[in-house]
Amino acid sequence: MRKDFVIDDDASAEDETAFVERYWTDVWKREGGPKGAYDRIPRKAEYRIMAPFLARLGEGARLLDGGCGLGDWTVYLTRNGYPTTGLDISRKTVAQLGALFPDVTFATGDIRDTGLAADSIDGYFSWGVFEHFEAGLQPCIREALRVLRPGGYLFVSVPMDNLRHAAAGALGGIGANKEPAFGARFYQWRLNRAELARELAIGGFEVLRVKPIHKRQGVLRALHHGLGLHYDWFVSRALSAALAPFIPGNLIAHMVLAVARKPEKRQ
Ligand SMILES: C[S@@+](CC[C@H](N)C(=O)[O-])C[C@H]1O[C@@H](n2cnc3c(N)ncnc32)[C@H](O)[C@@H]1O
Repeated sequence: MRKDFVIDDDASAEDETAFVERYWTDVWKREGGPKGAYDRIPRKAEYRIMAPFLARLGEGARLLDGGCGLGDWTVYLTRNGYPTTGLDISRKTVAQLGALFPDVTFATGDIRDTGLAADSIDGYFSWGVFEHFEAGLQPCIREALRVLRPGGYLFVSVPMDNLRHAAAGALGGIGANKEPAFGARFYQWRLNRAELARELAIGGFEVLRVKPIHKRQGVLRALHHGLGLHYDWFVSRALSAALAPFIPGNLIAHMVLAVARKPEKRQ
């Protein structure tokens, strides 16, 4: 597992939970808040991996979106037959979501201690959230195991420690896993496929699939960090779309997604 750091001017005495909430509330504010951009969900890599398992659970299955951000997944799945609770630590964002989507369930909360009843959820998905605490992923995994019913599915994605990061780390470049000297604080963990599988197995899950995703985003980032090309330049976007299909996921993928199951109770 590899650590990423972020430069934070307000690093002061703020604890990690307060920092995470402030950081993401600011990100979502800069992005203009919830917009209901849920039409794009079925085209997403996460959805294509998740869909067969959702079909197995059947319509009406109760889902949890852990760290729902702008809430697009919560809205889409609720309106397509899967009542979903969107849980997020950002109080302001959750308040906006509640006002915008009164037919959908959103709640402020912490995925390490959700307050939900044990065995009450059929499927739990969380995209890009379990990695945000320096103590590691286990508090999130432990709570996921508690709230899922036996046989329920967990879908989780985290930033991938791909071979580009590993090589850069070995050469002392980005992702070098060393704490930068000044004004930086822990931002997130990156994991490779084996590490994510191991974390879930340690937490008591049966691991069904582990897949690198978002290769195009990985190429975009490599072009930015390696050649200084800006993310929103046409040339960067065109090159990443053209190159991504030919580069192995383990080398370049930006995220890694796992599907796991809570074991059935022994008789
Ligand atoms: C990288 S964003 C991902 C948002 C969303 N899942 C998506 O894919 O667009 C991380 C989100 O998780 C939330 N978050 C971080 N730590 C959390 C925690 N312990 N409990 C609940 N939400 C958390 C943040 O507020 C933020 O909205």
